[in-house]
Amino acid sequence: MRFLLMSMTLVLVVASGEAARERWTRNEMVEMAGYGEQKLSSVLLTATLLSSSSSPIHGATVGIKCHTRYRKGSKWIKGVTNESGKFVIDLPSHLHAIPDLDKACIIKTLSVPKPYRCSSKIHRGIQLLSSSSGSRVYTAGNITLQ
Ligand SMILES: *[C@@H]1O[C@H](CO)[C@@H](O)[C@H](O)[C@H]1NC(C)=O
Ligand SMILES: *[C@@H]1O[C@H](CO)[C@@H](O)[C@H](O)[C@H]1NC(C)=O
Repeated sequence: MRFLLMSMTLVLVVASGEAARERWTRNEMVEMAGYGEQKLSSVLLTATLLSSSSSPIHGATVGIKCHTRYRKGSKWIKGVTNESGKFVIDLPSHLHAIPDLDKACIIKTLSVPKPYRCSSKIHRGIQLLSSSSGSRVYTAGNITLQ
C-alpha cells in the first residue's frame, strides 16, 4: 500500500513538472506564433541614406532583417530610396510582435547606384518615432555610406 502511494505521488510530481514546462508566457506564445494581438497593425521603418559628403542617395536598395528567439531572419525585406535618399519599409505582420525591434533587427545597404559603393556595414540604432492604435513608425535616422 505504501509503495502504491509513493508511486502515485511520483506520477503526480512528474505530471505537474510537465505542465509547468508547457506553460509559456503570453509574450513567448505571441512571439512563436509570429503575430501580435492586433493583426491589423502596421509597422513602418524609415531612414535616409546619405553619401559620405551628406548628399542623399537615390535609387539604392536597403534591407532590414530581424530575428526572434524562435525564428531566425532569413531574408532581407527591402526598400528603395527616393530623391531625398529616404526609404520606407512596411514590415510584414509576422515581425510586428517583436518586443525590441531595435535589438532584433539589422539594416544594410544591398545595392547602391554608381559611383557609390555598397558598404557591408550593418546599421542598428532603430528608434520608435511614433505609435498610435496598432500603427508604429520606427526610424534609423541617417545612414551614411563610408
Ligand atoms: C521621399 O520619401 C519620403 C518618405 O516617404 C517623403 O516624405 C518625401 O516627400 C519623398 N521625397 C521625394 C523627393 O520624393
Ligand atoms: C540627417 O542628415 C540631414 C542632411 O545632412 C541633416 O539635416 C539632419 O539633421 C540629419 N539628421 C539626423 C538625425 O542626424
